[in-house]
Amino acid sequence: MSSAAKPAPALSGAVSDMRTHGEASLFLGMQDAYSQLDHLPLRRVLLESLMAEQESVQAIAHSFGAFLAAVQPLDVRRRFFCSWQKTNNSAMSVEGLANRMTAEGEARVASVRDAALALFRAGGRMNRVADEDLGVGGQALHFELYYRMATEFAGQDDLWQSRQYCLPAAVEFKNWLDASRLRSPVMTGIYSLLVHEGYTHAELETIHDPFHHWAASQMGLADRDARRTLAWITVHCGGTEKNHFAHSCASLAHYLEGSGAEVDLDAAGETFRNYFRLKGAVMAQLTATYI
Ligand SMILES: [Fe+2]
Ligand SMILES: [Fe+2]
Repeated sequence: MSSAAKPAPALSGAVSDMRTHGEASLFLGMQDAYSQLDHLPLRRVLLESLMAEQESVQAIAHSFGAFLAAVQPLDVRRRFFCSWQKTNNSAMSVEGLANRMTAEGEARVASVRDAALALFRAGGRMNRVADEDLGVGGQALHFELYYRMATEFAGQDDLWQSRQYCLPAAVEFKNWLDASRLRSPVMTGIYSLLVHEGYTHAELETIHDPFHHWAASQMGLADRDARRTLAWITVHCGGTEKNHFAHSCASLAHYLEGSGAEVDLDAAGETFRNYFRLKGAVMAQLTATYI
Protein backbone atom coordinates (compact mmCIF):
# COMPACT_ATOMS: atom_id res chain seq x y z
CA MET A 1 0.00 0.00 0.00
CA SER A 2 1.35 3.40 -0.90
CA SER A 3 1.62 5.72 2.08
CA ALA A 4 1.19 8.59 -0.38
CA ALA A 5 -2.21 7.39 -1.44
CA LYS A 6 -4.75 10.10 -0.86
CA PRO A 7 -7.90 9.51 1.12
CA ALA A 8 -10.86 9.17 -1.17
CA PRO A 9 -14.56 8.55 -0.79
CA ALA A 10 -15.27 4.97 0.18
CA LEU A 11 -15.02 2.50 -2.68
CA SER A 12 -13.77 4.91 -5.31
CA GLY A 13 -10.36 5.45 -6.75
CA ALA A 14 -7.07 4.46 -5.27
CA VAL A 15 -5.95 0.93 -4.56
CA SER A 16 -5.42 1.88 -0.95
CA ASP A 17 -9.18 2.19 -0.72
CA MET A 18 -9.46 -1.55 -1.26
CA ARG A 19 -7.06 -2.08 1.58
CA THR A 20 -8.54 0.46 3.94
CA HIS A 21 -12.20 0.26 3.01
CA GLY A 22 -12.42 -3.13 1.29
CA GLU A 23 -13.44 -5.12 4.33
CA ALA A 24 -16.09 -2.62 5.43
CA SER A 25 -17.43 -2.44 1.88
CA LEU A 26 -17.73 -6.23 1.66
CA PHE A 27 -19.68 -6.31 4.93
CA LEU A 28 -21.97 -3.47 3.89
CA GLY A 29 -22.61 -5.00 0.48
CA MET A 30 -23.53 -8.36 1.95
CA GLN A 31 -25.73 -6.86 4.64
CA ASP A 32 -27.46 -4.83 1.91
CA ALA A 33 -28.19 -7.95 -0.17
CA TYR A 34 -29.00 -10.30 2.72
CA SER A 35 -31.54 -7.85 4.17
CA GLN A 36 -33.83 -8.77 1.25
CA LEU A 37 -34.46 -12.21 2.74
CA ASP A 38 -38.00 -12.36 4.16
CA HIS A 39 -37.37 -15.52 6.20
CA LEU A 40 -36.24 -13.71 9.34
CA PRO A 41 -34.67 -16.62 11.28
CA LEU A 42 -32.68 -17.59 8.18
CA ARG A 43 -31.65 -13.98 7.59
CA ARG A 44 -30.43 -13.79 11.18
CA VAL A 45 -28.33 -16.95 10.75
CA LEU A 46 -26.92 -15.59 7.50
CA LEU A 47 -25.85 -12.35 9.14
CA GLU A 48 -24.50 -14.16 12.22
CA SER A 49 -22.50 -16.51 9.99
CA LEU A 50 -21.03 -13.52 8.20
CA MET A 51 -19.99 -11.94 11.49
CA ALA A 52 -18.54 -15.25 12.71
CA GLU A 53 -16.32 -15.40 9.62
CA GLN A 54 -14.91 -11.90 9.90
CA GLU A 55 -11.37 -13.23 9.53
CA SER A 56 -12.25 -14.81 6.21
CA VAL A 57 -13.72 -11.53 4.95
CA GLN A 58 -10.56 -9.75 6.10
CA ALA A 59 -8.43 -12.26 4.18
CA ILE A 60 -10.50 -11.67 1.04
CA ALA A 61 -10.25 -7.88 1.24
CA HIS A 62 -6.55 -8.08 1.97
CA SER A 63 -5.91 -10.38 -0.98
CA PHE A 64 -7.64 -8.17 -3.53
CA GLY A 65 -5.93 -5.10 -2.09
CA ALA A 66 -2.48 -6.70 -2.21
CA PHE A 67 -2.99 -8.03 -5.74
CA LEU A 68 -4.01 -4.59 -6.98
CA ALA A 69 -1.16 -2.79 -5.23
CA ALA A 70 1.36 -3.74 -7.91
CA VAL A 71 1.86 -5.59 -11.17
CA GLN A 72 2.42 -9.14 -9.99
CA PRO A 73 4.69 -11.49 -12.00
CA LEU A 74 3.00 -13.21 -14.94
CA ASP A 75 2.65 -16.60 -13.25
CA VAL A 76 1.06 -14.98 -10.20
CA ARG A 77 -1.49 -13.23 -12.43
CA ARG A 78 -2.23 -16.49 -14.23
CA ARG A 79 -2.78 -18.20 -10.88
CA PHE A 80 -4.98 -15.34 -9.69
CA PHE A 81 -7.33 -15.39 -12.68
CA CYS A 82 -7.47 -19.19 -12.87
CA SER A 83 -8.18 -19.63 -9.15
CA TRP A 84 -10.53 -16.67 -8.74
CA GLN A 85 -12.65 -17.98 -11.61
CA LYS A 86 -13.22 -21.22 -9.71
CA THR A 87 -14.98 -19.23 -7.01
CA ASN A 88 -17.31 -17.22 -9.22
CA ASN A 89 -18.11 -19.30 -12.31
CA SER A 90 -21.01 -21.37 -11.00
CA ALA A 91 -23.82 -21.11 -13.56
CA MET A 92 -23.60 -24.84 -14.31
CA SER A 93 -24.35 -25.85 -10.73
CA VAL A 94 -27.15 -23.23 -10.52
CA GLU A 95 -28.75 -24.88 -13.53
CA GLY A 96 -28.10 -28.33 -12.08
CA LEU A 97 -30.00 -27.33 -8.96
CA ALA A 98 -32.87 -26.00 -11.09
CA ASN A 99 -32.94 -29.34 -12.93
CA ARG A 100 -33.32 -31.16 -9.63
CA MET A 101 -36.26 -28.93 -8.68
CA THR A 102 -38.10 -29.44 -11.97
CA ALA A 103 -37.47 -33.20 -11.81
CA GLU A 104 -39.22 -33.17 -8.41
CA GLY A 105 -42.03 -31.17 -9.99
CA GLU A 106 -42.40 -33.65 -12.87
CA ALA A 107 -42.65 -36.48 -10.36
CA ARG A 108 -45.58 -34.78 -8.64
CA VAL A 109 -47.56 -33.49 -11.63
CA ALA A 110 -49.97 -36.41 -11.65
CA SER A 111 -50.57 -36.48 -7.89
CA VAL A 112 -50.23 -33.00 -6.39
CA ARG A 113 -50.55 -30.34 -9.06
CA ASP A 114 -50.22 -27.34 -6.72
CA ALA A 115 -47.00 -28.74 -5.29
CA ALA A 116 -45.72 -29.47 -8.80
CA LEU A 117 -46.42 -25.89 -9.87
CA ALA A 118 -44.55 -24.55 -6.84
CA LEU A 119 -41.57 -26.79 -7.62
CA PHE A 120 -41.52 -25.64 -11.25
CA ARG A 121 -41.64 -22.05 -10.05
CA ALA A 122 -38.73 -22.76 -7.68
CA GLY A 123 -36.77 -24.09 -10.68
CA GLY A 124 -37.86 -21.12 -12.76
CA ARG A 125 -36.56 -18.56 -10.28
CA MET A 126 -33.31 -20.56 -10.07
CA ASN A 127 -33.04 -20.32 -13.87
CA ARG A 128 -33.25 -16.53 -13.61
CA VAL A 129 -30.07 -16.50 -11.49
CA ALA A 130 -28.07 -17.80 -14.48
CA ASP A 131 -29.73 -15.83 -17.30
CA GLU A 132 -26.98 -13.23 -17.67
CA ASP A 133 -24.20 -15.79 -17.33
CA LEU A 134 -25.67 -17.82 -20.17
CA GLY A 135 -26.36 -14.87 -22.47
CA VAL A 136 -30.13 -15.35 -22.34
CA GLY A 137 -31.40 -12.27 -24.15
CA GLY A 138 -28.50 -12.20 -26.57
CA GLN A 139 -25.83 -10.50 -24.47
CA ALA A 140 -22.24 -11.74 -24.30
CA LEU A 141 -21.64 -14.94 -22.37
CA HIS A 142 -20.03 -14.10 -19.06
CA PHE A 143 -17.44 -16.77 -19.69
CA GLU A 144 -16.32 -14.79 -22.77
CA LEU A 145 -16.12 -11.56 -20.76
CA TYR A 146 -14.02 -13.25 -18.09
CA TYR A 147 -11.80 -14.77 -20.80
CA ARG A 148 -11.21 -11.33 -22.30
CA MET A 149 -10.31 -9.82 -18.92
CA ALA A 150 -8.06 -12.64 -17.71
CA THR A 151 -6.27 -12.99 -21.06
CA GLU A 152 -5.53 -9.26 -21.24
CA PHE A 153 -4.15 -9.17 -17.70
CA ALA A 154 -2.29 -12.48 -17.84
CA GLY A 155 0.14 -11.81 -20.65
CA GLN A 156 -2.27 -11.74 -23.62
CA ASP A 157 -2.38 -15.52 -23.85
CA ASP A 158 -4.82 -17.98 -22.33
CA LEU A 159 -2.38 -20.19 -20.46
CA TRP A 160 -4.12 -18.96 -17.29
CA GLN A 161 -6.79 -21.56 -18.07
CA SER A 162 -4.35 -24.42 -17.48
CA ARG A 163 -5.10 -26.46 -14.38
CA GLN A 164 -1.50 -26.03 -13.26
CA TYR A 165 -2.49 -22.48 -12.26
CA CYS A 166 -5.43 -23.54 -10.13
CA LEU A 167 -4.58 -23.48 -6.43
CA PRO A 168 -5.68 -26.46 -4.27
CA ALA A 169 -7.99 -24.24 -2.19
CA ALA A 170 -9.75 -23.10 -5.38
CA VAL A 171 -10.30 -26.72 -6.45
CA GLU A 172 -11.66 -27.45 -2.98
CA PHE A 173 -14.02 -24.44 -3.12
CA LYS A 174 -15.38 -25.44 -6.53
CA ASN A 175 -15.83 -29.09 -5.56
CA TRP A 176 -17.60 -28.10 -2.36
CA LEU A 177 -19.96 -25.64 -4.10
CA ASP A 178 -20.81 -28.13 -6.87
CA ALA A 179 -21.46 -30.90 -4.33
CA SER A 180 -23.67 -28.59 -2.26
CA ARG A 181 -25.90 -28.00 -5.27
CA LEU A 182 -25.74 -31.29 -7.12
CA ARG A 183 -25.38 -34.01 -4.48
CA SER A 184 -26.47 -32.62 -1.09
CA PRO A 185 -30.16 -32.07 -0.31
CA VAL A 186 -31.71 -29.39 -2.52
CA MET A 187 -32.13 -27.16 0.53
CA THR A 188 -28.34 -27.15 0.99
CA GLY A 189 -28.02 -26.03 -2.61
CA ILE A 190 -30.42 -23.17 -1.96
CA TYR A 191 -28.45 -22.10 1.15
CA SER A 192 -25.32 -22.03 -1.01
CA LEU A 193 -27.10 -19.80 -3.53
CA LEU A 194 -28.22 -17.36 -0.85
CA VAL A 195 -24.78 -16.88 0.62
CA HIS A 196 -23.08 -16.78 -2.79
CA GLU A 197 -25.30 -14.25 -4.57
CA GLY A 198 -25.14 -11.78 -1.68
CA TYR A 199 -21.40 -12.25 -1.44
CA THR A 200 -20.80 -11.71 -5.17
CA HIS A 201 -22.89 -8.53 -5.01
CA ALA A 202 -20.54 -7.24 -2.33
CA GLU A 203 -17.32 -8.45 -3.98
CA LEU A 204 -17.96 -7.05 -7.44
CA GLU A 205 -19.29 -3.68 -6.28
CA THR A 206 -16.28 -3.38 -3.97
CA ILE A 207 -13.57 -4.26 -6.49
CA HIS A 208 -15.05 -2.36 -9.46
CA ASP A 209 -13.25 0.96 -8.96
CA PRO A 210 -9.99 -0.49 -7.59
CA PHE A 211 -9.69 -2.77 -10.63
CA HIS A 212 -10.26 0.16 -12.99
CA HIS A 213 -7.64 2.16 -11.15
CA TRP A 214 -5.18 -0.76 -11.35
CA ALA A 215 -5.86 -1.37 -15.05
CA ALA A 216 -5.14 2.25 -15.88
CA SER A 217 -2.34 3.12 -13.48
CA GLN A 218 -0.50 -0.20 -13.11
CA MET A 219 -1.32 -2.12 -16.29
CA GLY A 220 -1.20 0.97 -18.52
CA LEU A 221 -4.57 0.60 -20.24
CA ALA A 222 -6.29 3.62 -21.76
CA ASP A 223 -9.59 4.39 -20.07
CA ARG A 224 -11.64 3.02 -22.98
CA ASP A 225 -9.63 -0.22 -23.07
CA ALA A 226 -9.86 -0.59 -19.30
CA ARG A 227 -13.63 -0.32 -19.46
CA ARG A 228 -13.84 -2.88 -22.26
CA THR A 229 -11.46 -5.28 -20.51
CA LEU A 230 -13.28 -5.00 -17.20
CA ALA A 231 -16.76 -5.52 -18.64
CA TRP A 232 -16.99 -8.82 -16.73
CA ILE A 233 -16.88 -6.91 -13.44
CA THR A 234 -19.13 -4.09 -14.64
CA VAL A 235 -21.98 -6.35 -15.81
CA HIS A 236 -22.23 -7.81 -12.30
CA CYS A 237 -22.62 -4.37 -10.69
CA GLY A 238 -25.61 -2.07 -10.44
CA GLY A 239 -27.93 -4.60 -8.89
CA THR A 240 -27.31 -7.71 -11.04
CA GLU A 241 -26.16 -9.87 -8.14
CA LYS A 242 -28.69 -8.40 -5.71
CA ASN A 243 -31.38 -9.47 -8.16
CA HIS A 244 -29.88 -12.95 -8.20
CA PHE A 245 -30.15 -12.99 -4.42
CA ALA A 246 -33.82 -11.95 -4.69
CA HIS A 247 -34.45 -14.77 -7.21
CA SER A 248 -32.76 -17.20 -4.81
CA CYS A 249 -35.07 -16.04 -2.00
CA ALA A 250 -38.12 -16.55 -4.22
CA SER A 251 -36.88 -19.97 -5.27
CA LEU A 252 -36.52 -20.90 -1.60
CA ALA A 253 -40.11 -19.83 -0.85
CA HIS A 254 -41.51 -21.83 -3.79
CA TYR A 255 -39.40 -24.86 -2.94
CA LEU A 256 -40.57 -24.86 0.69
CA GLU A 257 -44.16 -24.70 -0.53
CA GLY A 258 -43.80 -27.40 -3.18
CA SER A 259 -41.55 -29.88 -1.42
CA GLY A 260 -42.74 -29.59 2.17
CA ALA A 261 -39.10 -29.28 3.25
CA GLU A 262 -38.28 -27.12 6.24
CA VAL A 263 -35.46 -24.71 6.88
CA ASP A 264 -32.79 -26.28 9.08
CA LEU A 265 -31.04 -23.31 10.64
CA ASP A 266 -28.04 -25.37 11.83
CA ALA A 267 -27.47 -26.86 8.40
CA ALA A 268 -27.91 -23.44 6.81
CA GLY A 269 -25.42 -21.84 9.19
CA GLU A 270 -22.88 -24.55 8.45
CA THR A 271 -23.22 -23.95 4.69
CA PHE A 272 -22.94 -20.17 5.11
CA ARG A 273 -19.83 -20.38 7.30
CA ASN A 274 -18.19 -22.98 5.06
CA TYR A 275 -18.72 -20.69 2.10
CA PHE A 276 -16.92 -17.77 3.72
CA ARG A 277 -14.19 -20.01 5.13
CA LEU A 278 -13.46 -21.73 1.82
CA LYS A 279 -13.55 -18.48 -0.15
CA GLY A 280 -11.26 -16.88 2.43
CA ALA A 281 -8.87 -19.82 2.11
CA VAL A 282 -8.65 -19.36 -1.67
CA MET A 283 -7.85 -15.70 -1.32
CA ALA A 284 -5.35 -16.29 1.50
CA GLN A 285 -3.60 -18.92 -0.62
CA LEU A 286 -3.44 -16.43 -3.47
CA THR A 287 -1.98 -13.78 -1.16
CA ALA A 288 0.83 -16.19 -0.28
CA THR A 289 1.85 -16.26 -3.96
CA TYR A 290 2.22 -12.47 -4.32
CA ILE A 291 5.63 -10.86 -4.34
FE1 LIG B 1 -21.94 -13.83 -14.28
FE1 LIG C 1 -25.06 -14.05 -9.56
